[in-house]
Formats: sequence, C-alpha cells, structure tokens
Amino acid sequence: MNNDQRTAHLIYGPTGAGKTTFARKLATEVNGVRFGVDEWMHALFGDDVPERMDMSWVMPRVARCQTQIWSVAQQILGTGTDVVLELGLLRKVDRDSIKAKVEQAGHGVLFHFVDAQLPIRRQRVLRRNSERGETYSFDVTPGMFEAMESYFERPTESELSGSHLVRVPQE
Ligand SMILES: Nc1ncnc2c1ncn2[C@@H]1O[C@H](COP(=O)(O)OP(=O)(O)OP(=O)(O)O)[C@@H](O)[C@H]1O
Ligand SMILES: [Mg+2]
Repeated sequence: MNNDQRTAHLIYGPTGAGKTTFARKLATEVNGVRFGVDEWMHALFGDDVPERMDMSWVMPRVARCQTQIWSVAQQILGTGTDVVLELGLLRKVDRDSIKAKVEQAGHGVLFHFVDAQLPIRRQRVLRRNSERGETYSFDVTPGMFEAMESYFERPTESELSGSHLVRVPQE
C-alpha cells in the first residue's frame, strides 16, 4: 500500500434500502466527498423525462452520469480524499467494473451493501415520495420500484464475503 492510496466507498443495494441515508453519514465519518447518481440524474435529465420512461431511457443516462462522476472522483482521490459513491451498481458486472477502475487508479475499494426487507423498502419509498426529505431526488412510482427490483442483481454469498456488509436497523 502506498501513502497516496485512498478509499472509494461503493454503496449499493435495492431500492429504498437506505443507501443515500447511509452514504451521507459515511461521507461525514470518513471526511469524504459523496456522489449520488440519482441527484445527478435529476439535475441533468429531470426536465427531459419522457412520458413513457423505461430502463432503455434511464440506463444510458445513468451511464453518462457514472462516467462523469468517476472522472471527478478520481481527481478527488488523487488529492488525498476518500469518496463515497452511490452509482446504482445494480449488476455484479457494474460493481466489478468500477472496482477495476478504482484499483487501476491505485486506490482501494470498500463495498457497502445496504439492504432491508421488501415490505419495509416499499413503505419507505412511498413515505419518501410524500415527505420529500433530505434523501429525496424524485418520485419513485410503484412501476419504477418493480422495474428496479427485477433489474437489481443481489450479491451472492461469495460476493458479500468480499464486501463490507452493512445491516440497516429495521424499523
Ligand atoms: N435505517 C433506517 N430506518 C428507518 N428509515 C430509514 C432508514 N434508512 C433510511 N430510512 C428512510 O427511508 C427512506 C429511504 O431511504 P433512502 O432514501 O436513504 O434509501 P435509498 O436506498 O437511497 O433509496 P433509493 O434506492 O430510492 O435511492 C428515506 O425516507 C429515509 O429517511
Ligand atoms: Mg438513494
């Protein structure tokens, strides 16, 4: 390990699990800079959402945000500061890809898998839609929730054994 090596904290998990809540807390704890892809999506493409939004519209735009976030995050790591990245990372291949980029840049990766039971997550998202608290970026409709649910690839035990596993306290 060289002295210039910093850590990229990579947050992932299913919809409504508490990822953004956790990422905000972690960024404060590690004195890191946090990036949330949902906030970037909302800021950059929120006004352009088509009437019939589907994954084929969302995913290329998420990919553009991820690329740009990584470009800036890499510079931040280079200044000696940790980053906390909430990039979606719905598929194992996405997680492997960002891990390779971080390591290629000479830094370390720490995965944080944030999870909660399905009924709790559904309830949290509905409440967040109406309360619009500090982790709200946009309404997550029941249709979007289900689409994300089927797209999300849960980590296997072997993937988790390499991750830092975060157990979000249940209500
Ligand atoms: N541990 C917790 N206990 C109770 N409520 C929580 C907990 N973590 C988050 N919440 C609440 O649940 C809602 C969803 O949390 P959050 O926005 O952090 O989830 P998320 O995983 O980022 O969701 P998304 O996948 O939509 O980005 C928020 O209203 C938040 O305040
Ligand atoms: Mg979030």
